[in-house]
Amino acid sequence: MKILLFGASGQLGHEINSRALDLEFEMICPVQSELDISEEAQVLFLAERSKPDLIINAAAYTAVDQAESERDLAFAVNRDGAAAVARAAKRIGSRMIHISTDYVFSGEGNSPLREDSPTAPLNVYGLSKLEGEQAVLSILGQNALIVRTSSLHGRHGVNFVHTMIKLFKERESVSVVRDQVMSPCWAGWLAEVVLDLGRIAASGVVHASCAGAVSWYDFAQAILESVQGKDAQARRCRLEPIGADQFARPARRPRYSVLDCSRLAQLLGRKPISWQEGLRAHLAELGYEQR
Ligand SMILES: NC(=O)c1ccc[n+]([C@@H]2O[C@H](COP(=O)([O-])OP(=O)(O)OC[C@H]3O[C@@H](n4cnc5c(N)ncnc54)[C@H](OP(=O)(O)O)[C@@H]3O)[C@@H](O)[C@H]2O)c1
Repeated sequence: MKILLFGASGQLGHEINSRALDLEFEMICPVQSELDISEEAQVLFLAERSKPDLIINAAAYTAVDQAESERDLAFAVNRDGAAAVARAAKRIGSRMIHISTDYVFSGEGNSPLREDSPTAPLNVYGLSKLEGEQAVLSILGQNALIVRTSSLHGRHGVNFVHTMIKLFKERESVSVVRDQVMSPCWAGWLAEVVLDLGRIAASGVVHASCAGAVSWYDFAQAILESVQGKDAQARRCRLEPIGADQFARPARRPRYSVLDCSRLAQLLGRKPISWQEGLRAHLAELGYEQR
């Protein structure tokens, strides 16, 4: 299968590309400096020239807080860029997998969110991603699959795991929000899932995150316990739980954004790994634990 992947330099895109190459897929991976997905003519030109069987869009404007003050840019990439990729896929008759987010939900409930749960984004990033999903589905219909994931962490890029490890090594104490609950998702696992979904040509919307639910504070605690074994400064670091209202940020976040991944399990015939397994795998890549 020939795959055109947008966003290959990002946290998830990097994992998709490296796994796809191991599996001997043919990969075309333009980086942002070569191709901006919001430049429709460029996207179409590359799609027509390369004629992939599948286009994966892992490119996105992901600066959640900054999006509040860069609304136009967030929409240009997450809605208009996604639509440009979908129109190119339609023109060449290719399928498309588009990556989206749990931030399309408001997070006011207490039970895992299904693909058909009502959406109500709390911030500009979430709204721009939701409108991107809608554009892709309306352009491509059955030839599109939206994969919604949550709280990604992987070897490449800026993420909560890397931020925590850095802080544990530098500080005496670190405060982390205890009243927002989610499912952390290891990008290495998700990359395999995305490629498997590409092989079975699934369509519609599917939720894909590691199993289990945890607050950011408890997630940080699990990271700290692993890092303490190897780092003397981290052994001295204390973790303090705080409320989200004590940690003011420009963008509001969902209080509960755990995704129900039963459709994914049905499609692939296997259950997602737990968030603990995902964290162990990531930390093993950083040299902290054995898998
Ligand atoms: N990170 C999370 O916690 C999270 C949670 C839920 C869902 N998601 C979704 O998962 C997907 C992957 O996220 P990620 O964490 O891998 O993001 P990331 O690390 O920020 O990577 C985003 C990628 O998009 C590229 N990009 C940005 N604007 C572009 C443009 N205009 N044209 C072409 N490429 C552009 C970036 O290129 P540069 O490297 O050149 O900037 C980078 O390769 C996104 O759809 C995101 O919305 C992420």
